[in-house]
Amino acid sequence: MTAMTFETLKVDVAERVAEITIVRPKALNALNRQVVAELEAALEKLRALPALACVILTGQGEKAFIAGADIAEMSGMAPSAALEFARAGHRVLGLLESFPVPVLAAVNGFALGGGCEVALACDVVYASDNAKFGQPEVKLGLIPGFGGCVRLPRKIGLGAAAEWIFTGEIYNAVAAKEVGLVREVVPQAELLPKVRGIAKLIAMRAPLAVRAAKKAMVAGLSTNPEAAATIEQLSFGQMFNSKDAREGTKAFLDKRDPQFTGD
Ligand code: CAA
Repeated sequence: MTAMTFETLKVDVAERVAEITIVRPKALNALNRQVVAELEAALEKLRALPALACVILTGQGEKAFIAGADIAEMSGMAPSAALEFARAGHRVLGLLESFPVPVLAAVNGFALGGGCEVALACDVVYASDNAKFGQPEVKLGLIPGFGGCVRLPRKIGLGAAAEWIFTGEIYNAVAAKEVGLVREVVPQAELLPKVRGIAKLIAMRAPLAVRAAKKAMVAGLSTNPEAAATIEQLSFGQMFNSKDAREGTKAFLDKRDPQFTGD
């Protein structure tokens, strides 16, 4: 078990799964500059753990995942500081998106603005039945600043994303599932057990294969279909250098469970 110390985050690593919890419940886990900086630092530390298999990201309490960027902090920002804040947000969400192992969002309440954008940068989003999603920035005279205009249309399609961003409306978990943002909606008490179960499954699979599959999907989404196909083919070929590919295929033929080592 590894623990890292931050003021606005709780980070625990156990059985090859890291759990990051945003801890600012009085501000509904809103993202101020400190949270963004600590999240970046935590991710940089976690990505250096060679045995890590999966990351879970959630918010403390039963009310909010992340209620957005911190409005109190933003209200006094000069344009140059706001640009720097958006750059920092993009950097940390880019880290999440390209993180070497899968990142699962356990959305336990409000995921608004920057909170919705954090969920969008995760590989899979699970939501509690009280979760609420939206990009309400236009209600504040702003636009999404942590990648909402980039990732929301790609995730839910331009039509749905345009409605979300132009109206600033809030959508419940079922509506977010309908547009493909959320994978599954479960009762609040079942959310973390559900997501931990998925993380455990991922941790049982061949580590190099899971990492390569994520890399191929993320790289593939940002390029054209032909280049994406080439990335997959090269990566598939590379898998055959791994001991785990030998072990996985042999174990199938021997009718036994594979013993993966990550080599
Ligand atoms: N920033 C700072 N503080 C926030 C916050 C935020 N995004 N969201 C909530 N809080 C604070 C409230 O100010 C309040 O603090 P006090 O108790 O000190 O007054 C506390 O958290 C509890 O919130 P509410 O009393 O408002 O709780 P509620 O249940 O009545 O409403 C809510 C919940 C609907 C989520 C409401 O808090 C809300 O609308 N929050 C703002 C959501 C929002 O607009 N997010 C987008 C921010 S902009 C952005 O994210 C830009 C970007 O893309 C980077």
